[in-house]
Amino acid sequence: MLLLALETSCDETSAAVLKNGKEVLSNIVATQTEFHQKYGGIVPEIASRKHIEVINPIIQEALDKAKVKFKDLDAVAVTYGPGLVGSLLVGLCAAKAIAWAMKIPLIGVNHLEGHIYANFLVHSLPREESRGSSVPQFPFLCLIVSGGHTLIVLVKDHGKYETLGRTRDDAAGEAYDKVARFLGLGFPGGPIIDKLAKEGDPHAVEFKRPMMEKEFGYDFSFSGIKTAVVNYASKQKVVSNKQLADIAASFQQAVVETLVEKTIKAALKHKVKTIALAGGVSANSALRKHLSERGKGEGFKVIIPPLEYTTDNAAMIAAAAFFRFKNQQFSELNLKPVASLKI
Ligand code: KG4
Ligand code: ZN
Repeated sequence: MLLLALETSCDETSAAVLKNGKEVLSNIVATQTEFHQKYGGIVPEIASRKHIEVINPIIQEALDKAKVKFKDLDAVAVTYGPGLVGSLLVGLCAAKAIAWAMKIPLIGVNHLEGHIYANFLVHSLPREESRGSSVPQFPFLCLIVSGGHTLIVLVKDHGKYETLGRTRDDAAGEAYDKVARFLGLGFPGGPIIDKLAKEGDPHAVEFKRPMMEKEFGYDFSFSGIKTAVVNYASKQKVVSNKQLADIAASFQQAVVETLVEKTIKAALKHKVKTIALAGGVSANSALRKHLSERGKGEGFKVIIPPLEYTTDNAAMIAAAAFFRFKNQQFSELNLKPVASLKI
């Protein structure tokens, strides 16, 4: 069974070919970072235009790398939300054209569902890396942390989700990006702060861990930490490289601790055996380490997607679509983009 998937919800144009739901034959990702960098964030018009420029060559590259032709495909999947509506439209139009021309089913996928299903791609790793790893067993808990979303989801079965908590303001990745922009570190901020934090002391500044009180349940808030960092840095007359690294490490510590503690609490309450991690911020080295250690310490199995499937990519969309294909859950050719699609 060969599935082509497309992902264009934000600033990555990606196409992947998945064989039998397990083997990633190709996963091509073209990032637009360089075109948005000077604006310090993603400019939606630029994003749509860049997707249009590269979508066809990216699809061709994914097919070529997989040694597959359009006529070999059994279905085509595409992200239809949440995301930037202009960006989503590009992937949707391409996928619909392929589905119509090749007379194969179209499968619309929720981007957040795609991130969760990155955890089902452990089979596709080289044997050495996949040793000891297995796909999550239901029910499991998934912490989704990306540039636009932060939520704790109870995954009861394929396609059956219950959101236990979400951010009330900024997403975790958004806070990373905004703090980095304020400190003049560049865009996107996540990987830059992650690297810089390695040289700093995570307890140099004790930024308040937000919404830890019981009344907030599993909800998050990251705009307070962001403001605390901005205020702290503004008060320093000269910020040396060491101070900058300390601020980055302390900010990261506060964010990671909040994410990990709430996730562990939710996992204990809901009596799951497995915790999975998803979304662009799951590339964060401190988050991967802390969640693994804390989770394993509490007796949970912790599954973390391979690095290449953490930030936006089409392989994860294909993984989610495979289960929809098995259940014959196809979309109509008039499928519309939904900017604020919920899980
Ligand atoms: O999932 P993703 O690729 O796109 C969205 O769906 O939003 O996530 C992008 C976010 C950005 O905010 C980026 O700064 C963050 O993921 N990110 C990281 C790291 N790598 C990417 N955040 C923290 N540490 C990282 N290593
Ligand atoms: Zn994403």
